[in-house]
Amino acid sequence: MTNQQESTPLSVIILAAGKGTRMKSPLPKVLHPVAGSPIIKKVIDAVKGAGANEIRVIVGHGEALVRKVVEPMGVTCHQQQNQWGTADAVKAADVASLKGDVIILNGDHPLLEPSDVQKVMTEFRASKADLAVVSAIVKKPGSFGRIVRHKGDLRAIVEAADASAETLKIDEVNTGIYIVRAEILAEYLPQIKNHNSKQEYYLTDIISLCQEAGEKVTAIRARASVGFGVNTQEELSKATRLLFARKNKALMEGGVLMIDPKSTYIEEEVEVGMGSVIYPGVYLRGRTKVGSVCMIEPGCYLAHTLVSDGVHIKAYSYFENTVVGPRASIGPFARLRPETEIGQDAHVGNFVEMKKVKFGARSKAGHLTYLGDATIGEDVNIGCGTITCNYAVDKKKYRTVIGDRTFVGSDSQFVAPVEVGADAVIGSGSTITKDVPAKALAVARGKQVNIENWKPKASEPEKK
Ligand code: UD1
Ligand code: CA
Repeated sequence: MTNQQESTPLSVIILAAGKGTRMKSPLPKVLHPVAGSPIIKKVIDAVKGAGANEIRVIVGHGEALVRKVVEPMGVTCHQQQNQWGTADAVKAADVASLKGDVIILNGDHPLLEPSDVQKVMTEFRASKADLAVVSAIVKKPGSFGRIVRHKGDLRAIVEAADASAETLKIDEVNTGIYIVRAEILAEYLPQIKNHNSKQEYYLTDIISLCQEAGEKVTAIRARASVGFGVNTQEELSKATRLLFARKNKALMEGGVLMIDPKSTYIEEEVEVGMGSVIYPGVYLRGRTKVGSVCMIEPGCYLAHTLVSDGVHIKAYSYFENTVVGPRASIGPFARLRPETEIGQDAHVGNFVEMKKVKFGARSKAGHLTYLGDATIGEDVNIGCGTITCNYAVDKKKYRTVIGDRTFVGSDSQFVAPVEVGADAVIGSGSTITKDVPAKALAVARGKQVNIENWKPKASEPEKK
């Protein structure tokens, strides 16, 4: 690429106004989640990653919802009033105001990657063409528009609905991506007619219009996945599977061990360090990061969670927005809710729930415990069945603070707000309602009474 070409502005128009009838879903098609993010986010990320200067999204069906999702991604939305076809959709983008090169693409192609877009852009600029369609060879051309060539040169795109039996045999198809110089688009777009079986304005007709007018038109080949558009729920699930497989492959190449990648679900942004082992049925979501040499056993769900090196997460544990320190061991069946921080070498055992808890280094809560709104020091032992009573009748939440090295006997309750100093001991079965000083023993339970040689009263004779 020359410097002059590099400085040519690149604008993008994404078509996302269509109804998505075949999805049979109340949600606009492009908002359906694919491996954890809306389909259209994958398209926006791909063109952004390829250096787009400006992105215009055409919205129509489900407009308000689509705007709400995509506008925060730094795009502008343009309304297409009636869904009269892909050429009509492009008209809504105010093409007269565009400069430089323009990529037009469908919003329903989630397998597209920045490198795919970069590659076709480089080829387009090298070809010095005025207009290019991106094509792919596919096994089942089905409802795709067919690329019709004459002596190797691109002539037209023919929609499947309007194609002859002979044309339908062509396996080179329109991926729904076009690159065009802005002036060419502004000149030929208004000339497209709706003379076809669906009486729609087909953007695909711009190819034959330009070709006939003597403009330089070309087809650029891309890999088949570029053409993968989602039109049905089945295609959505296939795209989801392919994206998870892509992610797993990349992680394994980076030294992650996966017992069964087919049943392991890791979203795109997630990071996993070398030497970590991921068991089947694990789902890692969003901004989750897992360090090196960790082990995540079957059925664990981690959302937006940071896991340090050497952590062992045992089966069926559930994490949201949590931070786990080095070498901690968690689970099985642990539930760590938002704003929880587990210190290094700490242990959280089975059926333990925490929310908004700072849990100190080397502390232990081995079994059947609820800690909410609590600060637990270092080297603390939380006995089985401990509960922080953080929610009061005034419907407010209060904190429990427990100092370093304190030993909490089993089946204790802390009625917050309450503070226990360091090196204290809480007797089993205590209901702590008052602060406990450092080094104190606190016992708050009914005293045991032993009645010697006690026998139950003889029961009354039954009345007739
Ligand atoms: C389109 C192409 C076809 C290509 C295929 C690739 C046309 C006429 N056909 O067919 O050659 O092989 O994509 O996937 O372009 N849209 C609007 N407004 C409208 C109509 C559609 O914004 O009035 C949007 C849709 O939301 C969608 C995109 O345009 O994101 C493509 O529309 P769709 O109906 O899925 O076109 P295909 O039949 O798949
Ligand atoms: Ca489509």
